[in-house]
Amino acid sequence: MLLRMARPIQYLGIGFVVIVILGLAIAPFSKRLIEQWSRSDVEARSRLVYNAIQNPVVRAIADGDASRMSSIFEGVALDERILAVGLCDDGGRLLYPTRLMPATFTCDKVARSEAESFATIINDGRRIMVGAFPIVERNQKAYLVILTDLSFIDARSGEAQAFVVIALAGVAIAVAGVAAIFVIVLLRGWMGSLRRAIEDVRSGALPSTASGNKSSIDGQIKKLLSEIELGRETIRSEQIEWSPAALQKLLHKLLPGAEVLVVSNREPYIHNCNDGKISVQTPASGLVSALEPVIRACGGTWIAHGSGGADRETVDRDDKIGVPPGDPSYALRRIWITEEEQDGYYYGLANEGLWPLCHIAFVRPQFREADWRFYETINERFADAVAQEAKTENPIVLVQDYHFALAPRMIRQRLPKATIITFWHIPWPNAETFSICPWKERIIEGLLGSTILGFHTQFHCNNFFETVDRFVESRIDREHASVASGGHETLVRAYPISIEWPPKALVGQPPIDECRRQVRQSLGLAADTRLAVGIERFDYTKGILDRMRAVDDLLIRVPAWRRRFTFVQVAAPTRSKLSSYSNLQNEAVALAEDINARHGDGAYQPIRLLVRHHEAEEVFKLFRAADVCIVSSLHDGMNLVAKEFVAARDDDDGVLVLSSFTGAARELSEALIVNPYNTLEMSSALDVALQMPASERQERMRLMRLQVRERNVYRWAGRMLIDAAASRQRRRILDISEANHAR
Ligand code: F6P
Repeated sequence: MLLRMARPIQYLGIGFVVIVILGLAIAPFSKRLIEQWSRSDVEARSRLVYNAIQNPVVRAIADGDASRMSSIFEGVALDERILAVGLCDDGGRLLYPTRLMPATFTCDKVARSEAESFATIINDGRRIMVGAFPIVERNQKAYLVILTDLSFIDARSGEAQAFVVIALAGVAIAVAGVAAIFVIVLLRGWMGSLRRAIEDVRSGALPSTASGNKSSIDGQIKKLLSEIELGRETIRSEQIEWSPAALQKLLHKLLPGAEVLVVSNREPYIHNCNDGKISVQTPASGLVSALEPVIRACGGTWIAHGSGGADRETVDRDDKIGVPPGDPSYALRRIWITEEEQDGYYYGLANEGLWPLCHIAFVRPQFREADWRFYETINERFADAVAQEAKTENPIVLVQDYHFALAPRMIRQRLPKATIITFWHIPWPNAETFSICPWKERIIEGLLGSTILGFHTQFHCNNFFETVDRFVESRIDREHASVASGGHETLVRAYPISIEWPPKALVGQPPIDECRRQVRQSLGLAADTRLAVGIERFDYTKGILDRMRAVDDLLIRVPAWRRRFTFVQVAAPTRSKLSSYSNLQNEAVALAEDINARHGDGAYQPIRLLVRHHEAEEVFKLFRAADVCIVSSLHDGMNLVAKEFVAARDDDDGVLVLSSFTGAARELSEALIVNPYNTLEMSSALDVALQMPASERQERMRLMRLQVRERNVYRWAGRMLIDAAASRQRRRILDISEANHAR
């Protein structure tokens, strides 16, 4: 802005200087000009007088009539400019001088020539012009002398100079005025933007509550609406400060009356029975931790597999229960799956087939015909449940993940007008890799039943386009990021998933120092022990063995860390029925024991492996107690653990060591980015992290927190809803136009 202001001000300044220089140059010039004009004027007047009185004067001389001569001369001298008139004879005598003839004037000051002449004399400090005009009478020559006071010229040129100065000053003042107004206008605009920017920063620093900053959200959404209504589908989600309230408003304004249905395998609340007592558990699932705050904000029904031991006991006759427990804001509809079905659909096709197929972790995918049939059956069951739960013909259905690749098309068959937003939470491999899947065409066609298909990164979208191009008949429009197939169009876009901000698990957390103290005490560690943590499901894609090897390498290369450093790995058991998972657990336990045996002693165990599920509050306490968090996934769609660690650190401290093979690495570039396959690189990063100065830690963490706060999960959902609204509008327009053509 200042740069934009500088150029016009420069021009105005130059203009002002030019005017002043002009003024200085014009002043003497104008004086000279006026002097010349005035003298010519005086000469012309004198000449006129001479011509007018020449004959009477000649006659008076001839008659020797002195009194006539005097009266002629006195008459002429009445002119205000003419000072005196007289006659100089041939002998140089002054005859008939009028009353005001200066006493000092003598005829020898008059040039005696054949023609008229003019001279200037000074009398009493006044300039006087003397005009001499020859008069001839009977061979006698005389000169009519007319004296004109020139002091009026000085007055006149003084006035002219003053006029020029005043005029130029006027112009200069006008120019300065224009410049001042210009600067004021620009400054006001600039101050306005500055104020708005400060407001933005301020409001960003104070996360809004459900009731907070309503009117600003209203305004933002009104603006978005008008943009959409104008057909400009260029809503910039950056314009909105994303919060539950903003998401609710957006939904109500953009998609009024729309009902929201979520479909996922994992349920957000699992009821189990322990010692005859029913307890609720929230699962270790990135999908759940991202989606739950969204549906809490929007309301609706979440359809998921009822996997808990006490799930059937807690639902009503429609297999539903209001959640969150104690403060219900949406309905959880549970779907029952037999063990056999679970083995085929979940463990088999989803987790032994698609999971390793989509993650580059070098575990061979297994595809079995029987698993595929169960996969189809369960997808049908969920699609039926959607149709049952839908109260309107066009609900918004949020289908989650690789468990439901077939469901979008099945839902479309049941509810053709539904807006189906499918999100694929894991990576999408390249076409060559995907071609391994025996049912690749069916999976792609199933997904293309969606209105919108989302991935974490553009890279995964591109892989999907490439796969579609290779295996199904379709028209791909990369400019609009869409695929048309079987008369239906699907938008394929990147929506990087995130977490709620501020996270619920942060509420009630003790201060950082207290967390550090409590965690070290509970683990039996010295108060000054440096702590690194890793927290996830016990999954081979997470690189748990690789980070343990990095810890081992660090302790070998830098033995000074022994007894001063501990690594805590929290690993929630998952999919343990599968050998790839149970083998990993066994291997990890063995590796931890080996490392502890080599570097530890009775009291000191450099690796603490805690194999159990931790609730979010415990996880956040660990994050807050840690110096370093290690996320070393071999391949990961996003990885929300990295974002949760950042969100937990409201002290702006702590270092994140993050695998370059996570989607999160594209956003959290201030982390120490590592290749988890490179043990030395990872152990060196750990060493750097443990020694990093506080100022650098804080600078990195502040930037990452800003990123996670702004790109939170409400933005993730909001961006999809914005696109869904635009797509519904396009659908409406197409329907109207088709109806018109049909008439
Ligand atoms: O990222 C894929 C995902 O569906 C996430 O929700 C979560 O990290 C994990 O897989 C959940 O696995 P599961 O539901 O099989 O325990």
